[in-house]
Amino acid sequence: MKTSLPVRRAVERMRAYHPPLEGRTEKLRLDFNENPIGCSPAVRRALAQLSAASIASYPEQETVRRKAARFFGVAPEELLLTNGTDEALSLVVHTFVEPGDTVLFVEPTYAMYRFYAELAGARIVAPRYDAAMCFPWNNVIEALRAGPRVFFLPNPNSPTGNLLSLRELRRILTAARRTMVVIDEAYFEFSGVTVIPWIRRHKNLIVTRTFSKTAGLAGLRLGCLFVHRELAASMRKAQSPYPVNAAALVAAEAAMRDRVFIARTLREVRRGRRELERGLDRLGIRYFPSAGNFLLVHLGAKAKQIVAALARQGTLVRDRSSDFGGEGYVRITLGTPGQMRRLLRELKEHS
Ligand SMILES: Cc1ncc(COP(=O)(O)O)c(C=O)c1O
Repeated sequence: MKTSLPVRRAVERMRAYHPPLEGRTEKLRLDFNENPIGCSPAVRRALAQLSAASIASYPEQETVRRKAARFFGVAPEELLLTNGTDEALSLVVHTFVEPGDTVLFVEPTYAMYRFYAELAGARIVAPRYDAAMCFPWNNVIEALRAGPRVFFLPNPNSPTGNLLSLRELRRILTAARRTMVVIDEAYFEFSGVTVIPWIRRHKNLIVTRTFSKTAGLAGLRLGCLFVHRELAASMRKAQSPYPVNAAALVAAEAAMRDRVFIARTLREVRRGRRELERGLDRLGIRYFPSAGNFLLVHLGAKAKQIVAALARQGTLVRDRSSDFGGEGYVRITLGTPGQMRRLLRELKEHS
């Protein structure tokens, strides 16, 4: 047998990332912060009308890019369409990080920052939220003084739900003179805080958005990256020519037109949040305030058992205990009030 070729050292050193991804569609999915009511009916109609020619051709994205630019209030030259936020994060690393460069993020957070940084052979600096889920300001400012190449900062953060204010984000940009700051606004529609307009003033700022959450297009993989136009040109050089598929493009157009669906999603999630918070209060379960469409709850020593029992009943939540030293934390996506009542009934049964 021939000897197999060695894989890169950075890949060998990585732990495989195994999110529970299979067999979810028929279940109550409160584990990945997706849209609890699906997607806009206009999106489904647009997909049904995709022509054979569109499916058989390599995707053309210019029209949608222009429409997206108008939708987000930027110039087309300041926006890249990406294969989900994930591709945007990977593109940032490909464009700016050499092996051995430092990448900064605050943990626990979205797993893909570490994933792409490790894949690139970067040195990782990852201060942590404290037990009260407070942002570690001193550590972050000190880390920024050393000039890491990239700082990934989701706002709000997942799974903690923390939101930094515009004033706090300004403080970070002021401290990050030699660092590309990536503000991941995956949950913007729930928080209402955005720094997209700042990309014109700050050449070291990248903002990302996704169609996976409020728009309900997680299965089609579509994201946007916003950056100063000079850098956008360099980043496009590092991107493959067809990152976004034809189905995602027609779906995005329909999703951007259907503001009623977005408003309905936000209303349902707001009502679901009230229902869940009240129910958790009644059950005496501790949770952390969240600016996203999810809550981090503390289920303690029985967390694993409870998560497994819920899964047997067809309700999926995300056990994040391993992010907190085994401390029994679980992230629950906010659903409709009816979905939240079902979850609360099941939680009561098992806790
Ligand atoms: C902070 C954050 N960023 C990005 C994503 C993923 O976005 P996308 O589906 O566009 O890759 C998630 C998904 O859970 C997230 O929590």
